[in-house]
Amino acid sequence: MKAKIAVLPGDGIGPEVTVQARRVLEMVGENFDHEFSFEEAHVGGIAIDECGDPLPEQTLNLCRESDAVLFGAIGGPKWDDPNAPVRPEQGLLRLRRGLGVFANIRPVKPHPDLIDQAPLKPELLRDVDLIVIRELTGGIYFGHKSRENDVAVDTCTYSVGEVERIVRIAASLAREREGRLTSVDKANVLETSRLWRATAERVVHDEFPDVKLEHVLVDAAAMHLLQKPDYFDVIVTENMFGDILTDEASVLAGSMGLLPSASLSDDGPGLYEPIHGSAPDIAGLGIANPYAAISSAAMLLRHSLKLDEEADAVERAVARAVHEGALTVDLVRDERKSMTTAEVGDRVCELLSTCTACL
Ligand code: NAD
Ligand code: IPM
Ligand code: MN
Repeated sequence: MKAKIAVLPGDGIGPEVTVQARRVLEMVGENFDHEFSFEEAHVGGIAIDECGDPLPEQTLNLCRESDAVLFGAIGGPKWDDPNAPVRPEQGLLRLRRGLGVFANIRPVKPHPDLIDQAPLKPELLRDVDLIVIRELTGGIYFGHKSRENDVAVDTCTYSVGEVERIVRIAASLAREREGRLTSVDKANVLETSRLWRATAERVVHDEFPDVKLEHVLVDAAAMHLLQKPDYFDVIVTENMFGDILTDEASVLAGSMGLLPSASLSDDGPGLYEPIHGSAPDIAGLGIANPYAAISSAAMLLRHSLKLDEEADAVERAVARAVHEGALTVDLVRDERKSMTTAEVGDRVCELLSTCTACL
């Protein structure tokens, strides 16, 4: 098949991990005889430096006319001045809104070979296999904002329609899995959460009677995620709660550098990005973990290009590479045994082209 993929490397470790994900996609193209074309564009801090805008019009246009978008990470200390008129993060938020990608899928499934070195007890992690569905284009991220003298305001808004569509995605996914859906909110305090809870209840009751829905308050959910992480199947939650809970969930997998994500709309291109940021503390050292970016590329193959076999091949190559110990320093106790970002990318590409078990 032919596919056009927009690549937005961004800032910090963004370009370092994205180049590995792109190489993997190129390798898939060669091995499976697809014609993938790639076009790069600026976003985030580098786009502010180059064009004065964290999401230049040509970048958004490129994304809109592509089949999928591979995104690295944005942000960094250079653009962190609280008085700056624009921030890199605005580029990412405008991109999500501009593409209408309201459903952010963040799977969390620790690799068996990494469980022993995770900070949590191995017996808690062995059966963890959960997916967080994070609402991505609403809530406090996109509400009215203002700042006057000593007072700052961020408003949180959700409409019934916004909640219905994300709950439908989550319930459909739960139906294909264990049939259990946990909706996370703060309905004891927030009006938006009370609307969220009532809407989730109605949608699941009317349209997904076979799905078992429960509601958990976000503070308790944060605790349960560490105390009984294997309990969860599909979690659906609003924008900010999903952001926070998935960084927490990355600890279950062993590193921020492992968790991929897919952001989908009803139609139009999907956006694929690691859940981690630009990691300024390790940027430029060539040691960032590229697995989250590579696994995001696998999600791109699966969700936007409908290439399940190819996505499986990438996921198997990643699993095999991890099993062999092809790991960056965030996952290795003995630093001398760690690989660089590029070496990990090399190994995944090698496995993809030579390992029949991976295909
Ligand atoms: P971060 O995710 O960049 O880093 C948190 C910690 O995890 C750091 O210690 C970092 O070294 C580590 N880490 C992250 N990714 C890693 C990887 N692939 N391999 C190894 N270690 C990794 O979060 P932060 O430090 O809070 O934010 C830094 C900047 O990134 C900020 O400007 C923030 O706004 C931005 N950010 C961007 C995105 C995005 O582009 N999607 C996501 C989160 C944060
Ligand atoms: C993420 C990031 C972004 C978010 C920031 C950079 C705007 O933390 O993708 O998880 O909060 O959504
Ligand atoms: Mn985040």
